[in-house]
Amino acid sequence: MFNSNFSENDIVAIDGPSGAGKSSISKKIASKLGFKYLDTGAMYRATTLYMIEMSVDIENNDAVTKALENINISFDNNFNVYLNDNNITEKIRSSVVVSNVSKVSSLKAVRVSMVDIQRQIASNGGYVVDGRDIGSFVFPNARYKFYIDASIDERAKRRFEEEKANGNNISFDDVFESIKKRDFIDSTRSESPLVKAEDALLVDTTSMSIDDVINFVVDNVLTKKNI
Ligand code: DC
Repeated sequence: MFNSNFSENDIVAIDGPSGAGKSSISKKIASKLGFKYLDTGAMYRATTLYMIEMSVDIENNDAVTKALENINISFDNNFNVYLNDNNITEKIRSSVVVSNVSKVSSLKAVRVSMVDIQRQIASNGGYVVDGRDIGSFVFPNARYKFYIDASIDERAKRRFEEEKANGNNISFDDVFESIKKRDFIDSTRSESPLVKAEDALLVDTTSMSIDDVINFVVDNVLTKKNI
């Protein structure tokens, strides 16, 4: 555990591709360390939902910029996500959001705005932040950086089980294709693509349990903290 006198670089950056299990492990890592948790993927999903619901033409930069001015994203202590005060926690997991989020999150204006908010939220440290570009771009000085990976088959399997548990009727092949497509867009976009920061520790979780991953990260953070 940390006491609550965090320094600004007391940030645990958790990056990696879709379906690697980042958000489930990040919440638990945060609670074990006494940190708060920031889900940056939820922010891109919330923005995507807004663009869909308000029929914003995302090819039109002015329209996107204007829309961003009207977007207010917040979280509560139970990891619920709010868009302009409406609880959208469930909605941002819907297939229409999933199939558009990579496109929306590749827009420069969207990234500039989200990164700015992320830096403000975690400016005093004491945060576990999960995403794609956290260690490489958003918080390059974060003291603890991890790149959580797993084979695409394993990631599709995990996401499929999650969808089933949530009562969503989607085939394994569709989940697999959706992850493959997001991998491609997320890692080839020009604005801060998904990349392992040079100083991030690669954790291949293909054959690890969730608890193994959590313990590995927490032990690593605590060891480094005391160096
Ligand atoms: O982690 P997630 O599946 O909730 O992320 C949703 C999408 O948001 C994902 O396709 C990539 C994008 N994303 C991003 O571009 N940068 C981040 N820091 C977090 C997510």
